[in-house]
Amino acid sequence: MEQYLQEVVVNEFGGPEQLENQVSAPLSPQTGEVVINLKSIGMNQADLMARRGEYRLSSGDPPFTPGIEGGGVISAVGEGVVNRHVGQRVTLTISAPAGRGTYRSQFLALAEETIPVPDEIDDALIGALWLPFLTAWGALVWRQNVTKGQTVMLPAASSSVAIAASQIAKHHGCTTIGITTSPNKVALLEQIDAAQYDHIIVTRQADNRTPWWRKVKQITQGKGVDVIFDPVAAGNFLNTEIRLLAAGGTIWVYGLLGTPDKVDVSPLIRKDASIRGWLLNFLAGLPAEQAGYEHILENVAAGTYTLPIAGTFSLDQIRDAHTAMERGNHIGKFILRP
Ligand SMILES: NC(=O)c1ccc[n+]([C@@H]2O[C@H](COP(=O)([O-])OP(=O)(O)OC[C@H]3O[C@@H](n4cnc5c(N)ncnc54)[C@H](OP(=O)(O)O)[C@@H]3O)[C@@H](O)[C@H]2O)c1
Repeated sequence: MEQYLQEVVVNEFGGPEQLENQVSAPLSPQTGEVVINLKSIGMNQADLMARRGEYRLSSGDPPFTPGIEGGGVISAVGEGVVNRHVGQRVTLTISAPAGRGTYRSQFLALAEETIPVPDEIDDALIGALWLPFLTAWGALVWRQNVTKGQTVMLPAASSSVAIAASQIAKHHGCTTIGITTSPNKVALLEQIDAAQYDHIIVTRQADNRTPWWRKVKQITQGKGVDVIFDPVAAGNFLNTEIRLLAAGGTIWVYGLLGTPDKVDVSPLIRKDASIRGWLLNFLAGLPAEQAGYEHILENVAAGTYTLPIAGTFSLDQIRDAHTAMERGNHIGKFILRP
């Protein structure tokens, strides 16, 4: 029996109850296009923000289909497509989902908006793995050029991006300090090979006799950290981070998890330090984008990089999937399997 095709639509901004599953028509490729039967779709905080109406720049107004990641098997190719074929396993590039959303069974993309995936990589990861790694690689390697011996601090230690960043930083010879808000995740993080933290520090702990930032100072023997790669970076937390930076250090801000408040940036002056913003999309269309995919896919295929899966859901379970991700008890990546 042929499976029917689905797509998820947000008809109004709001909670998970606004996610509607609809039956969709089969797609046919035009010149230069391919149709992909999606096998996995990585879930992002950006998807939750889009649903809530906090990311209109990307989602636009409802109705829209969320989702910025995906990968699967090519089921049809349009005229003029020479370098992709039916049956080939591919992942979508950064620009492929722009304005279209990937929470669906089938996706239409230009052939050049797809990247062939090595056989060693499982279908469950095919549409979920490069985004956390490329987000980390782009800032830490392409922009920052982290080097052996540097210390890299990674807040939101249980997030998929920080876990990917820990592997990339270790691969480049750095010392990694994971910072988590969740005391109950520490033992689990210590058991997960993918979470490559030399040290894990909890920020919100009732019986914290030593403040968390003092532990960071102790680890770095008073020198401070060279690089902070942070999706929280706001208010008092950012104030503390600025004080934890080593001379010449950099804070890369890549998320909006924190609550904005006043920040004293004056210590940056005497430290010759900086705060910089980072968005994955800065890579789109540049030669570095391809270099990043190659580095990541090669290392995942070789088993050097791995992505822990926090949970998998079908498109029918999309409301449960968003609820689980919003709860924040997870470690790693939630994946949709159409
Ligand atoms: N700039 C870019 O190009 C780019 C690309 C991809 C993702 N992102 C951003 O990266 C961040 C992580 O994404 P993800 O998909 O990896 O998320 P995720 O796996 O769902 O991780 C979320 C984790 O962040 C921490 N956290 C949540 N709220 C927090 C708060 N208010 N204060 C401090 N920590 C908090 C928690 O970790 P602990 O329990 O360990 O503290 C939570 O488990 C998101 O902000 C996302 O928007 C940015």
